[in-house]
Amino acid sequence: METESRQHAGSPPAGRPADGNRIDRIWSQLEKNVQRAGARRIIDLFADDGHPNGKSRFDDWSARSDDLLLDWSKTNIDAEARDLLFELAEACGVARARDRMFAGERVNNTDDRPALHTALRNLSGSPVLLDGGDVMPGVIDTRERMLAFSDAIRAGTLTGSGGQPFADVVHIGIGGSQLGPEMACLALRPYHDGPRVHFLSNVDGAHSVDILGLLDPATTLVIVASKSFSTPETMANAVTVRGWLADALGEDRVADHLVAISTADARVRAFGIRPDRVFGFADWVGGRLSMWGPIGLPLMLAIGGGRFVEFLDGGQAMDRHFRDAPPARNLPVILGLVGIWHGNLCGYSTRAIIPYDQRLNRFAAFVQQVDMESNGKSRRLDGTRVVRDTGPVVWGEPGTNAQHSVAQLLHQGTRVVPVEFLVARHGHERERARHHRMLVANCIAQSEALMAGRSIAVATGLMREAGYKGEALQMQAAHRVFEGDRPSLTLVHDRLDPRTLGRLVALYEHRVFVEAAIWGINCFDQWGVELGKELAANLESWVGTDRLPDGRDSSTLGLLRTFQHLKES
Ligand code: F6P
Repeated sequence: METESRQHAGSPPAGRPADGNRIDRIWSQLEKNVQRAGARRIIDLFADDGHPNGKSRFDDWSARSDDLLLDWSKTNIDAEARDLLFELAEACGVARARDRMFAGERVNNTDDRPALHTALRNLSGSPVLLDGGDVMPGVIDTRERMLAFSDAIRAGTLTGSGGQPFADVVHIGIGGSQLGPEMACLALRPYHDGPRVHFLSNVDGAHSVDILGLLDPATTLVIVASKSFSTPETMANAVTVRGWLADALGEDRVADHLVAISTADARVRAFGIRPDRVFGFADWVGGRLSMWGPIGLPLMLAIGGGRFVEFLDGGQAMDRHFRDAPPARNLPVILGLVGIWHGNLCGYSTRAIIPYDQRLNRFAAFVQQVDMESNGKSRRLDGTRVVRDTGPVVWGEPGTNAQHSVAQLLHQGTRVVPVEFLVARHGHERERARHHRMLVANCIAQSEALMAGRSIAVATGLMREAGYKGEALQMQAAHRVFEGDRPSLTLVHDRLDPRTLGRLVALYEHRVFVEAAIWGINCFDQWGVELGKELAANLESWVGTDRLPDGRDSSTLGLLRTFQHLKES
């Protein structure tokens, strides 16, 4: 994975920080360390455990923030590598970059914008300055309007056009305008005491048919959530759902059922949504970081304003921790550095997020966007090509389901995938205590099995006991060997409540930021999504026609021909 850095050896790229030589030295020391790591096993790093008066590796390689515990001991990072990683963060200016972000500097250089999503969860009463002005009065005003609106919907004082309270909410949005609130609504199911919330994201007509088929337009509130208010999928769904409302209730009643969340006031007005039903936010909030403000409205409707504020409080607690905790105890910094170790030093190109929590079912999908849209970049801030691999492929499934689908590859495949386990000390279901014990046992067992593995000697003994002999014994034993030495992290929290979810989301946001700062990339833009959008807009005018565009490859033309039957209806 360091192929490019080798190609570029001796020709430092433009746009490097001033202490580039120091950074090069640290990378090269880390590369030497990782070569030695090839000869040591993670389990060997626990050799000093039990030493009289000594701390265990778990004590040394775990960090806490309140009840949050991050165990990073099951990685092949030894004391030297750990120190070098912290030195790398310092030399790359992670703390400086963090302070610039919080201070509202234009850290998103290609859009010429700050990244001030942290202001949306600022409950401290302190100002957040941007170009000399405080952004907080606007943030608070919008939040107050959201709270009043949400309270009225939940209390049934704000009703549908026929006077019936809203029983269902359809939130139309995609990507950052959907993944966060959808993930959070699932995660915080025990706190739901408001209307049912449904998320419509895919332009596939099947999605709207399946959702609308369950609902009564008279008792349905529709939120159109789009920062740009021009995302084609969202706008197509918005038009369809608006039509569904109009057909059932009459055009003059539609506005009572519509809400918009957007930064694009003019487009929202043109769509016919009343100004008092629009919740705006500034362009300095990135889509994938926007669930803390109006994009979080469906969550607020589901769990109530008070609990939504607890969610914000959790996010802010993580902001404080990120700013104040020393690197050695700083969870986002550690998480980021472990990511650098696995991606850039060990060459592992993916990471799996396996929450042992059914309600974190969509957490990996959410982190996927936060991580891959932010750090899937090949250019440094100044436009020069990066010299190391950047963001990994992020994927995941909740445990224990993952154990029955992806775990085979994690344990015995030829590729090593570092795993990040998440688990709560307590479930919400007191009446399911045994289930929670099983869940926890499975989570801990997975990390132990990944690291410790099972030797050929043990496997042979087991197969001999099972009655195998000779070549059959060898063959059967070989299949039961677990090479082990596979790294994982475990993140433990007390209970998945709104505040904890806020801390987890902010932790992963900041982790992505730490890694970006080390690579010197802009984690706040997303130019890589544009080309596909442009081509789709162009191709739509050819799909379902007898004509074919000029100058396209035979695959694209052949596929278009395959869909010539799709006439417009
Ligand atoms: O996928 C690209 C993207 O711009 C994301 O960054 C964003 O979250 C999503 O589309 C939705 O955008 P919008 O909120 O403008 O509809």
